[in-house]
Amino acid sequence: MRIGGRHYRSIWLAEDGWAVEIIDQTRLPHDFAMVRLESLDDAVRAIREMEVRGAPLIGATGAYGLSLAARRDASTEALETAYRALLATRPTAVNLRWALDRMMAVLIQLPVAQRVEAAYRHAADICDDDVAINEAIGRHGLALLQQVWAAKGESGRLNVLTHCNAGWLAAVDYGTALAPIYGAYDAGIPVHVWADETRPRNQGASLTAWELGQHGVPHTVIVDNAGGHLMQQGLVDICITGTDRTTRHGDVCNKIGTYLKALAAWDNNVPFYVALPGPTIDWSIRDGLAEIEIEERDPQEVTRITGRNREGHVVPVEITPTGTAAANPSFDVTPARLVTGFITDRGVCEASEAGLARLFPEQA
Ligand code: MRU
Repeated sequence: MRIGGRHYRSIWLAEDGWAVEIIDQTRLPHDFAMVRLESLDDAVRAIREMEVRGAPLIGATGAYGLSLAARRDASTEALETAYRALLATRPTAVNLRWALDRMMAVLIQLPVAQRVEAAYRHAADICDDDVAINEAIGRHGLALLQQVWAAKGESGRLNVLTHCNAGWLAAVDYGTALAPIYGAYDAGIPVHVWADETRPRNQGASLTAWELGQHGVPHTVIVDNAGGHLMQQGLVDICITGTDRTTRHGDVCNKIGTYLKALAAWDNNVPFYVALPGPTIDWSIRDGLAEIEIEERDPQEVTRITGRNREGHVVPVEITPTGTAAANPSFDVTPARLVTGFITDRGVCEASEAGLARLFPEQA
């Protein structure tokens, strides 16, 4: 991703070669600020407080969190403690567990003296793999968008609706759901994005709008309740969302509100695709509703909203009567039957066990 003419990933090693730097996503879109992570505690805080967020980036940060922990103490006991602390930060996105397991499988086999160097090397590999996966999703998704554009007679603009932020900021680079959109824009298709604001944390309004703007992609932020209406008006050609965990049967767990968009898309014959990196498939479970833990976050994310005031200060404001109870389930499950297909790094497939097994035979 280019910001102000400079290429960035969303996570990288500092110049000293051991500290980890991230973009503080809690401050976007108002401030583009970096945070330096120097310890396991820093990595745990960054994930829990959502300075980094998005399934692939949570996984990458977890991998570097283990590296920072190993730097202080690479004993098996210390690594296992770090593993548990990182895994407990956010329960829903499976990429975190996937990345931590991948790291531990390598590190535990090695003599303690070799673990720090190996941890950094494997964390870097996880980041590079994520970039390659998302680049591939972008290519396969572009082919799909070219078909949708051709079917529309190449007239007007290609309207894509997305939910939350499944872009470059949610991954290491490119993004998942936004990668095909960047590809379409770069290929000259007049793409336009409806960006759901995505209450309560507004990742669509704050992050998706910001990164689409950096790339120059035309977009319009809408309230979460507007999508169904736009679909009824014929103003959405395709929906593409990300996913935090997809079961082997194809049930998709993603940011709260995704399910309602899929229902509206179903009712209006709008294709509903999910951009799905291989590591986001949880092959150990089948039924998303029964088997995925849904993160319940602080009710204050619902009772308050944060934004920039007239003086230029970013402040939280109360939007409910004092003392009002609020519930904050952060993810929901969209059953596979409502998903038209998956855009994976290995191609596009039907949202079913057979579809996933065709592309990932070694897992099936
Ligand atoms: O709570 P967040 O901001 O981590 O949730 C992010 C999402 O729901 C994304 O859609 C998902 O992680 C896919 S990101 C490529």
